[in-house]
Amino acid sequence: MRKKIIVGNWKMNKSVEESAKLATELVAACKGQAFSDKVDIGIAPTYLALDRVAGIVKGSPVKLAAQDAHWENQGAFTSKISVDMLKALGVTYVILGHSEPRTLFGETDANVNKKTVKVLAEGLIPIVCVGETLAEREGNITEKVVGTQVRAAYQGVSALDAAKTVIAYEPVWAIGTGRTASDDQAQAVHKYIRGLLKEMYGSEVAEVVRIQYGGSMKAENAAGLLTQPDVDGGLIGGASLKVDSFLGIIKAA
Ligand code: 13P
Repeated sequence: MRKKIIVGNWKMNKSVEESAKLATELVAACKGQAFSDKVDIGIAPTYLALDRVAGIVKGSPVKLAAQDAHWENQGAFTSKISVDMLKALGVTYVILGHSEPRTLFGETDANVNKKTVKVLAEGLIPIVCVGETLAEREGNITEKVVGTQVRAAYQGVSALDAAKTVIAYEPVWAIGTGRTASDDQAQAVHKYIRGLLKEMYGSEVAEVVRIQYGGSMKAENAAGLLTQPDVDGGLIGGASLKVDSFLGIIKAA
């Protein structure tokens, strides 16, 4: 059975001090809890807080995630952060291709692919985000859009590496809107993605890749989503910014 994975994407929220406080509270809340072994837990604070938070989560069940990374190790790439740099801080997961960089900052499928390959080459775990806009859903092209994003991200990725990855299905219309995909809507797309992975890599790989749902997931709707057969976790925005709501989702998982 696939182990559930819950990751908090803090986006551009919380100062370094606030991030340290939230991470400290979360680590304390997870201490000695039975769920700590049953669910993989991650948090993705702002880059500025990664170093500080790394020290706080060390030795705890809470793993560190980054919100993006560049595919080169160093060089003239103003504003970018390399996988090497993240690795040195003890980062485990790297979120790639989130819909915010895709829609607001020109992130492309080709770049997501380069980043995915690089993150895997450095031994970190990519969380590859895919998802359709409302117009695309209403135009009945959800599978086409999501399928294109998945195929592009995994170009040149071996089966062995693909098996280590995590995919986050985040319908754009559900992100930060309070409008969650229904359990059935989420399951249908997750099942489609797993079918696609099977086509690309065979069933052994398809069965181990964890597919998270993201988009207005909260403690109240988490159980319904997380009991769908192909929903293996959550990538949480707003509800990860408070320890109680995030913990509620972890417990549901
Ligand atoms: P919300 O949970 O705030 O909808 O954000 C989801 C998300 O984008 C996680 O990456």
